[in-house]
Formats: sequence, structure tokens, C-alpha cells
Amino acid sequence: MTDSKESSLKDNSAASLQTAADGNLRHLLTLQNIPLTWLSKFFTHADECAAGNIERSLAGKLFVNIFFESSTRTRTAFEAAAKQLGADVVNLDQITMAGESKGESLEDTVRTVAAMGATGIALRHSQSGAAVLAAQAADEFGIAVINGGTGCESHPTQGLTDAYTLREIFGEDLSAVSVAIVGDVLHSRVARSNTQILRAMGVKNIRLIGPPGLCPPALKEEFDAPVFDDLDEGLAEVDVVILLRVQRERIDSYHLTIEDYFANYGLSETRLAKLKAEAVIMHPGPINRGIEISNAVADGKQSKILRQVTNGMAIRKAALLYFCGGKS
Ligand code: CP
Repeated sequence: MTDSKESSLKDNSAASLQTAADGNLRHLLTLQNIPLTWLSKFFTHADECAAGNIERSLAGKLFVNIFFESSTRTRTAFEAAAKQLGADVVNLDQITMAGESKGESLEDTVRTVAAMGATGIALRHSQSGAAVLAAQAADEFGIAVINGGTGCESHPTQGLTDAYTLREIFGEDLSAVSVAIVGDVLHSRVARSNTQILRAMGVKNIRLIGPPGLCPPALKEEFDAPVFDDLDEGLAEVDVVILLRVQRERIDSYHLTIEDYFANYGLSETRLAKLKAEAVIMHPGPINRGIEISNAVADGKQSKILRQVTNGMAIRKAALLYFCGGKS
């Protein structure tokens, strides 16, 4: 497994491992090289899930959430979606897993739940590369791994959720839409997955904005996108602002105060007023009010933050149906 410094937008090992010889996906590990034709069909299927046109076709299946890191949205959405589709759901976390206290490896944890009859696993892990290891173990049993967020590299169901939300607002063709990603881009799996999927959907204008310690100029090459340390300059004329969560300890380690961060990189009402009137504000959550975003902006009419959460349910249902035995 790799740490954040080795994370890359181009995690080709995950992309090749998840793709079957016939072009279908066996796992969802990354959005790198995700085919537009697959995305288009997947989103149409998510539309059906959102409309409630899906039967309980996972009845009798066992789905396991293996979460080595905390999560509210992702884990709950997978659990709720799986239950609404009729599956039985087991949640493993740091407290219940033997791996943490008894030295069992991630791969053996996957093999253990597969041997119990699981047909699908969602994995969250602090290390980049964990989803590939889990998928290799899952392949011994022919079951699917869905990456629920690993290291700094990948959070594909969040990327799908965010792209689906933009498709809902702007339509299928996103080529004219400009997107700013603001905050701790360096450590963000959301920034990487979102950039991968938005590029696949035709977005040309992506800008990265943040303090140099958290959004260094070197990211220009990895993301193939301009990097700004001046928020107002970076936000000029954008259609979409995706704010990223900033950990307080990371702010401290770059000798910034929370007040400094909000003054320079927070989205306040004053800054919002300078954007296009119809600019869309997004955040994957959890949000830090008063750090990345003001209360008024988070709760305002341009905010799509809760819409992202709602859409996340349709995306997780579509993913479960595709990957865990209820393929349509
Ligand atoms: N966006 C996201 O991954 O949130 P959780 O950490 O609550 O799952």
C-alpha cells in the first residue's frame, strides 16, 4: 500500500484490475479510464433507482461494509441502499474487526467474509492501494469490491455522485462547464476521483485552489489543471465550486489559523456574491462550517450539498445492483 505522496490520478493498476475482458467492470476501485459509455448507462440506471423503479432484487444476498475509517454518508448510504434492495447487511469497523487487534490482514478479512457468502464488499481504508489488495483477495471468490474511499487516491462513489449531480443540473454534456476545486487538494481522494470522472464527461476547465501547503503548484502536472493560491482569482467566472474538507490539524501544520483559512479560502456570502448568480456550490461532506464555508452559503439556495447526499443513495443502489448480483 502507498501513502499520500505516492497517490496518483493515474492509478492504472486499479483501472486494469477492475475491468473484465469483455469491458464490463468486476469491481469499482477507481474512476481512472472509466468509459463514457459505461457511465452513461450507469447514470440511466441510477435515474431508475432514484425514481424508485427498482425491485428488491438483492434479496438473499449478503453485503458487507468494511470500514477502517469513520464515515457517515458513504457507509450509511451503502447500508440503507442495500437494505432497501432487500440485501442482508453486516458492518465491520475498527472495533469489530480482528485485524485491528489480532493482526489479521485486510486480505484475510476479505476472504473471511467471502467464505461466509458475501457477494459484495464496500471498503474504506486510510491507505492508498488497499482497494486493489481487497479486490485481489475477492477475485479468489468471484465477488465484488466497491471502493468506499481509500487513502488520498480514490473515492469513486463520491465522484459518481458529484458527476451525477452536475448531470442533473447541466445535462449530459459538461464540456462547457468550468469547475473549481478548493481546499486540501493534495490529500483529497475526492479531488482525484472527481477530476477523473469530470474529464471523462468532457470538462475541460478544472482549476485547483488552496494554500500552497495543501494545494502545491506541483499538482498542476498530476491533475493537468492550473493551480491558484488566490481564491478570488481562481473562482473568476466558474460555474461550479467544489469545496473540500480541511482537517484542523493540517491547517495547524501549515502555520495557518482557522480564521486565516476562512478569510483566505472560505466561501463566505461576500465571495459568493462575486460568483455567477447561478454558480453551483458543492461539498462532499462532512462540512466544517466557518472553515471552508459559511453557514449562509452552506444553507443557501446555490448549495447542492444535501442534494449530493440524496443522489448518493441512487448511485450506491445502482452500484450494488451492478456489482453485487442484481445486474440489469
Ligand atoms: N463524503 C464522504 O465520504 O463522507 P463520509 O466520510 O461521511 O462517508
